[in-house]
Amino acid sequence: MTGKDAPIVVLTGAGISKESGLATFRDADGIWATVRIKDVATPDAYRRDPKRVYEFYNARRQGLVGGNIRPNAAHGALARLEREWPGGVLTVTQNIDDLHERAGAKNLIHMHGELLKIRCDVCGNVVAWRDDLGIEDACAACNTAGRMRPHVVWFGEMPFEMERIERAISAAGVFMSIGTSGNVYPAAGFVMLARQAGARTVELNLEPSEGATLFEEKIYGPASQVVPVYVERLLHGAGD
Ligand code: APR
Repeated sequence: MTGKDAPIVVLTGAGISKESGLATFRDADGIWATVRIKDVATPDAYRRDPKRVYEFYNARRQGLVGGNIRPNAAHGALARLEREWPGGVLTVTQNIDDLHERAGAKNLIHMHGELLKIRCDVCGNVVAWRDDLGIEDACAACNTAGRMRPHVVWFGEMPFEMERIERAISAAGVFMSIGTSGNVYPAAGFVMLARQAGARTVELNLEPSEGATLFEEKIYGPASQVVPVYVERLLHGAGD
């Protein structure tokens, strides 16, 4: 297997949080089966009907903080990998939940933002937020009311920290993609960048993703089962 001084980059998606009780997006029982992206997850939707957008994210925030949601064994295994892998691990998540950090991840990028933060559209101030958000809420920094928005990346907006992510993938020895359907760019393109960098590419998912053929190694099954086994193999497995 890969030398233990090689850095690892892990990309995660909604599938890793499914067994924690959070819905994915594109599965039959996923979020986009009940609500349209263009109604709740675009800058246009927010301009047109901010109340609808607030309600969508308020419900998801309530589900995350009040819903008995906990990290599962896959989040735990990745946090362990980060602690124990000599070459260093960066986790890049598309998820806006906080389950990676609750499992102990420290080197983590939320490329699509965070559900438990809000941001002022006027001055850019970001604050932690666990309650419902409404049009009447004002920015604590610039005092403007009605312009606080979820600190999440909507369709048509640029994900966060792209330069840092691309630099890390270009230097990676292993690129793991976990629980993502490979439908949304730029994340879906990371595997190509990893291949160009000569990294070993691994997909761990319930089923083959859109980009499955691009991965050298593929392991299919529920994340809470396959991720801990793969992490153990990386840390202590025989070379292959
Ligand atoms: N273990 C592993 N994988 C799973 C599990 C599980 N228990 N359950 C479902 N999956 C897989 C599905 O088979 C699917 O391939 O997780 C993937 C989830 O795909 P999506 O719902 O498309 O989620 P994701 O890839 O994270 O979406 C990317 O799209 O709408 C946006 O911004 C949103 O960050 C999100 C982005």
